[in-house]
Amino acid sequence: MTDLWDPSDYYKHSYPQYAFALGLVGRLALRGDEHILDVGCGDGKITAVLSARVSHGSVLGIDISTEMIAFAQNMFSQTAYPNLSFSYGDASNLTFQKEFDVIVAFASLHWTADLVTVLQGIKSSLAPGGRFAAQLMAKRFTTQGKSGSPLHQARREVMARPAWRPYFREFKKQGLVYSADEYEKLLRDAGFTPHRVEFVTEDVTHPGIEALKGCARATWHRYTSRIPAEHRDAFLDEVVQRFIEQYPPDSGGQIHVRMKILEVEATVTGD
Ligand SMILES: C[S@@+](CC[C@H](N)C(=O)[O-])C[C@H]1O[C@@H](n2cnc3c(N)ncnc32)[C@H](O)[C@@H]1O
Repeated sequence: MTDLWDPSDYYKHSYPQYAFALGLVGRLALRGDEHILDVGCGDGKITAVLSARVSHGSVLGIDISTEMIAFAQNMFSQTAYPNLSFSYGDASNLTFQKEFDVIVAFASLHWTADLVTVLQGIKSSLAPGGRFAAQLMAKRFTTQGKSGSPLHQARREVMARPAWRPYFREFKKQGLVYSADEYEKLLRDAGFTPHRVEFVTEDVTHPGIEALKGCARATWHRYTSRIPAEHRDAFLDEVVQRFIEQYPPDSGGQIHVRMKILEVEATVTGD
């Protein structure tokens, strides 16, 4: 099954993912001639940033969503970005052989169901000495014993309310979410040497309530798709309302959400 992404909505409301990704792109310290694979490239805007950093190299973005790939191909054409291309591809079925110097994955791997297979495919796709860098959601235990941002916590609270609970009764989160320690072990088991597996934090600023709601809508379709279409907006309104009860907007109407994401950097040694 592929998720039904709305690429235009994602493009407009994925500024949190973009802000996080730029941090890791900076850390890559690219020489400029690398061949890069971006797994789960989505709308392609981070893939396009990478292509500008490797003017003597190339970047291929792959995604399991044909809607996202069509959007990226249209938005970042090969005429304007000669060293950038996009194609359909499933992270769980990578067939490249030692072709890339760097493989990146931003906010995508926690959507995949079988991370072991994904990591094995990434390793086989990397040239000897190649690098893997990713940002992904991971289990993080706070003092309340819950993981995720305060916005995720607000969503969980609203999902448990009587009006919404029936829609989530059989709900099982797809995509496995491991802890940092578990990720590190998975990397080692797949033949990587992890250099950094740690959480990074961003104070994400949303210009207002509608923008915050847009960010939630653009990525929460696994939740909202369980609710009849005519009630989805009301669900998102309740989540946002619950969030701002606890974290009110600042004097300029901006809303701040403190978010954490796991950052992974690893290398593969020859075979
Ligand atoms: C939150 S978006 C991230 C997009 C982009 N990397 C970014 O950071 O803005 C997650 C993307 O992962 C893709 N994805 C999910 N499972 C995938 C899989 N098995 N193979 C390739 N892409 C996948 C989705 O289609 C979606 O475009």
